[in-house]
Amino acid sequence: MGMKMLVINGSPRPNGNTSELAKQFLKSIGDRAVIDEVRLFNMNIKGCMNCGACQRAVLETHCAINDDMRALYDSFLSSDTIMIASPIYMWQFTPCTLAFLNRLHCLCRSADFSYNAMEGKRMAALITLGAEGEVADFAANGLRDLCEFFKMDYRGDLRIPFANSEKERLADGTYEEKLKEFAAKVLK
Ligand SMILES: Cc1cc2nc3c(=O)[nH]c(=O)nc-3n(C[C@H](O)[C@H](O)[C@H](O)COP(=O)(O)O)c2cc1C
Repeated sequence: MGMKMLVINGSPRPNGNTSELAKQFLKSIGDRAVIDEVRLFNMNIKGCMNCGACQRAVLETHCAINDDMRALYDSFLSSDTIMIASPIYMWQFTPCTLAFLNRLHCLCRSADFSYNAMEGKRMAALITLGAEGEVADFAANGLRDLCEFFKMDYRGDLRIPFANSEKERLADGTYEEKLKEFAAKVLK
């Protein structure tokens, strides 16, 4: 069976820079993975409320909050690779992307790691931002640290700086080599 990749698109704009980057990335992946892409912005996903229920016992619903995250847990658990696609807003991933990441906590009992459904899954990020690439370090380093803590396999990020003026170039093939390289790094 081929690899399954879940693309988490955290951009509010369906035709914005991040969606274009995700589209071009999926083109370079071709049929090497089965893709499930979800757009978070119109979904109802709250941040974690620290009720502790998931840390006391593994819940059948994963999390005590009943919202659209429930369906995403199944997609997450059946995927080998999770690709976070987000613009940078105020040096961070977008709020819906952060809410999604918050809510992964229930997949691990972090006091003793007696349960960890995140372990071994690959994660990587597609990032667009208005300024120079280093501005995404804070967000990308946080994702890398999250992966390290939860024993996920972080494959790095592909970031497009000055994205507002690069969107056309994304579509005209300028980034083809970079996309290919990143796809190979994620899939290898
Ligand atoms: C509220 C808001 C905050 C932003 N903050 C940053 C920032 O901190 N650093 C940066 O480089 N770009 C920032 N940007 C620019 C976006 O990251 C950039 O335009 C991005 O490509 C938008 O992605 P989209 O087209 O998928 O919406 C911000 C944009 C908005 C709307």
